[in-house]
Amino acid sequence: MGKVITICQNKGGVGKTTLAFNLAECLAKRKKKVLLLDTDAQANLTSYFASEDTDYSGVQLYDAMINDTKLKPAKTINENISIVPADLRLSDIDYSLAQKFARETILASKVRMLADDFDYIIIDTAPNLGLLTINSLLCADSLLIPLIPEPFSVQGLNMIRTLLKRLNEAMHKDFKMHIVLQKVKNTSLHKEMESELRSAYGDAVCKQTIKDGIKYAEKSIQSEMNNAYEYTALTEEVMNINKD
Ligand SMILES: Nc1ncnc2c1ncn2[C@@H]1O[C@H](COP(=O)(O)OP(=O)(O)OP(=O)(O)O)[C@@H](O)[C@H]1O
Ligand SMILES: [Mg+2]
Repeated sequence: MGKVITICQNKGGVGKTTLAFNLAECLAKRKKKVLLLDTDAQANLTSYFASEDTDYSGVQLYDAMINDTKLKPAKTINENISIVPADLRLSDIDYSLAQKFARETILASKVRMLADDFDYIIIDTAPNLGLLTINSLLCADSLLIPLIPEPFSVQGLNMIRTLLKRLNEAMHKDFKMHIVLQKVKNTSLHKEMESELRSAYGDAVCKQTIKDGIKYAEKSIQSEMNNAYEYTALTEEVMNINKD
């Protein structure tokens, strides 16, 4: 049964999508079969893996969520990576989901049907804590929370923790949250915040951090570059987190 990893942070631009594609590529290099779910209307992850002649019509996440059809993963330009693509209609999906029965767990029931076909299922979420993000959280075996060690990102973390506490109580879940420090600079603010976060959250902060720099954000498949070493090491950690 494949492990579901949800990447979530309601603060925008912290590197959720960059983490999703690097993780997927590092796992694919290890011959793992990876399914990506793009739940963000911006569709950044979808376009990252698309080639000029990719046809994603009729297989988007929106159709499965609203018309209650199965998720239909599409092929990407990486043979070990499939994707359920996003499109702009997701931007108001919360309104359409609001009337549905068991609306928080629609995605989880669909993901479960595919879990045997993949080693890892990675869900990239939008920068909000709406219904589709809650659906994505309720699929998760583990949660990755990207965080820039700065006050605004830590505020975002506090909002996620409050939501997780409520979901834990209401849905009888026990979320395992793992913080990934991203865009880390060699400044005294970042060093101080990193050490505060490590003393507050202990092992929940991944050992491997991702530094601030263009090579971490580069499109490795399109420029045929290797993923940055830091993502390779982080992938090891994420695989360990998800070991039974
Ligand atoms: N380690 C890094 N160092 C420098 N720039 C980075 C790093 N990681 C990502 N970026 C850049 O930061 C920007 C935001 O990254 P990304 O789109 O992955 O964030 P996001 O959290 O998915 O954003 P959104 O909330 O809009 O979905 C992009 O331009 C990306 O290339
Ligand atoms: Mg994104």
